[in-house]
This record gives sequence, C-alpha cells and structure tokens, in this order.
Amino acid sequence: MRRVALKQRPDGEPVAGDFEVLEDALPRLGQNEVLVAARFLSIDPYVRTMIDADNPYGAPMPLGQTITGDMAGEVVASSNPDYAVGSWAAGRLGWASHGFDDGSRLRPLDPALGELPLHLALFGSSGLTAYFGMLELGRPRPGDQVLVSGAAGAVGQVAGQIAKAVGARVVGIAGGQTKCGHLVEVLGFDGAIDHRAGEIPAALDQRFPDGIDVYYDNIGGPITDAVMARLAHRARVVVCGESSQYDAIGHEYRPSILGPLMDSRATMSGLLVSDFSHRYDEGRAALAALHRDGRLKVEFDIIDGLDYAAAALIGMLKGENTGKRLVRI
Ligand SMILES: NC(=O)c1ccc[n+]([C@@H]2O[C@H](COP(=O)([O-])OP(=O)(O)OC[C@H]3O[C@@H](n4cnc5c(N)ncnc54)[C@H](OP(=O)(O)O)[C@@H]3O)[C@@H](O)[C@H]2O)c1
Repeated sequence: MRRVALKQRPDGEPVAGDFEVLEDALPRLGQNEVLVAARFLSIDPYVRTMIDADNPYGAPMPLGQTITGDMAGEVVASSNPDYAVGSWAAGRLGWASHGFDDGSRLRPLDPALGELPLHLALFGSSGLTAYFGMLELGRPRPGDQVLVSGAAGAVGQVAGQIAKAVGARVVGIAGGQTKCGHLVEVLGFDGAIDHRAGEIPAALDQRFPDGIDVYYDNIGGPITDAVMARLAHRARVVVCGESSQYDAIGHEYRPSILGPLMDSRATMSGLLVSDFSHRYDEGRAALAALHRDGRLKVEFDIIDGLDYAAAALIGMLKGENTGKRLVRI
C-alpha cells in the first residue's frame, strides 16, 4: 500500500517537500478486521494545524506518520460481519491507498444516498459541520441577514444553502470573482463579497445596512474584525474555523471582539462538530432530503492521484478550490 507521510514540519506555508509518499506491505487481516481500498480522500484545512509543532488539537503529528484524513472506498477484505466485501465504507484512516481497521473508526455507507464523493462532502464532516453549526448555533430565522465566510468552500457552500432553505437572506465571502459568481448563479446566494478585491468594510456596509444577524465564520483574521463591528442586535456568531490564519501559527491575527459583542448583545459560540456526533444520523437524513429535492447543491473539486495529495492541501490553503476538495485514488 502507498501512503503520504509527514517528512518534516512546515515553516509557515507548507511545501511539497514537507511530505513524502511511502510504500508499505499490506497488513494481514486479524479477527474482526476490515481492509478498505481508498477511492477518495478528504482534504481538510485542519491538517495544516495538526502537522505543526504547536498543534492546538493535541500532540504534534510524529514525523513518518500517515497524514490524518477521512477516506471513502470499497471493502476488499473483511473478517468483520458488519462490513461485507464489495460494500462501501468511510472513516478517518488517513491519506493512503488502503485503510485497515477493526471497524471502530469506520462507518458503512449507503450507496442509495449518492456517489462516494457525496459521503465525504455532504454526509461527512464538512456537511455535518455546516448543518449543526448553522442550525444549532447560528439559528437563522426567515428574513435574517446571514453572512458566511469561506462561502465557496466545503463547509461554507452547505452552511449558506441551509440558511437559504430556512428563508434567510444570505451573502457569502469568497476569494475572486469566479467563486463569487458561482455563489450567486449556481448556489443561489443573495450576494457575494470578493475578499481579494479589498474594501471589506465598505462592502459589508452596502450589503448589510441594518447589520448582520448571523455570521458563520470559516476564516477568522481581519475580516472577522470588520464583521464584528456590524453585528445586529442579538446577533449570533458561529466560530467554525480560521482558515486565513493556519499558515501563520505562532503569530496569528486574533480579532478584538469583546467590545462589539457587548454593544450588540450578540452570542458567539465555538463549534466542534463532534459535539453533535450522537445526532449525525439525523443530520445526514436532513441533508440528504435537502439534496434530493434540489435545495442543496454540492460542488466538488477533485485532484487525481495520491502523489498530489500534499499539493491538494497546499493549494486549498491558498484558495484554489471551489467546493469540497477531494483526492481520487
Ligand atoms: N468546527 C468544526 O468542527 C470544523 C469542522 C470542519 C471544518 N472546520 C473549519 O471550517 C473551515 C472551512 O473548512 P473547509 O473544509 O470548508 O475548507 P474550504 O473552505 O473548502 O477551504 C479553505 C478556504 O479558505 C479560504 N482562505 C484561505 N486563506 C484565506 C484568507 N487569507 N482569507 C480568506 N479566506 C481564505 C480559501 O477560500 P477563498 O478562495 O474563498 O479565500 C480556501 O478555499 C476551516 O476553517 C475548517 O478548519 C471546522
């Protein structure tokens, strides 16, 4: 089997030489074990923080370890009665051609819900994060003014469309005119702001003359500061991620939030999708229903080949992707 391992810790922006592709023998199956041939790997921004010496999620990933990430594929050998050979499964088995597990990190996939990429995007961590973060913490109501940053990415595209389905007016922040056009013309957002064009404060004033009721924040940094100054009375802020700061570990920009929160009596909530793990089935069923009836579109951004997994992450942190970035094996 082939796997992508951490070769050295990045200093600032990661480069291809921080990663290496290694070849190992396939493990022999023990009792109750499952071997999955990967078809798609999920590329996620949190990987950037996990490979750093200052990993906020715990101990830094050891050099030589397979890069963490979700995999979806086909069961090719199994001694576990829950996973038949030929069925689909997904789990956090890392960036590799094959995954090996006793079933504790795996979940069986229902092909009736859609193709494999959909199970990593909509029914995986990205879609569930958007679903629970927007509905449980953002709590949009019909007519609310909602702003989503990182709106053309994996989480943002779903979060914005969920708020639209509730009846809110939704504006997205994304990098570049192409992504902004995609938000409005394909995903049905009410407006888009190109953060690469600058003038965020003026654009926010123009789009939100009465303030922002819900801010779903995927990127953090100076844009978040500009948004905080424009919160409506009793606004809700969902702190989902800080993509704009992941390459600046150790010297991040932290917004000065306390004054505006006090003035607007707003609520700001940190989001960790695993807090909702006991409700994932409910989330997947609701997302599937929205997708089935055409109210939730999912854009994929697929890179071919395990050898390009590191480049896929590096490019994603620079904003190359529109929609959920995956690597096809
Ligand atoms: N809380 C949780 O439990 C949880 C779970 C999953 C994910 N997350 C977080 O959710 C966020 C989105 O994740 P994702 O998988 O959907 O990634 P993504 O949005 O598909 O990809 C990252 C995006 O970040 C944007 N970006 C990078 N640098 C930026 C900058 N300086 N300013 C503004 N935007 C910048 C880029 O989009 P543009 O081209 O538009 O700039 C890039 O496409 C991440 O912060 C992630 O860590 C949190």
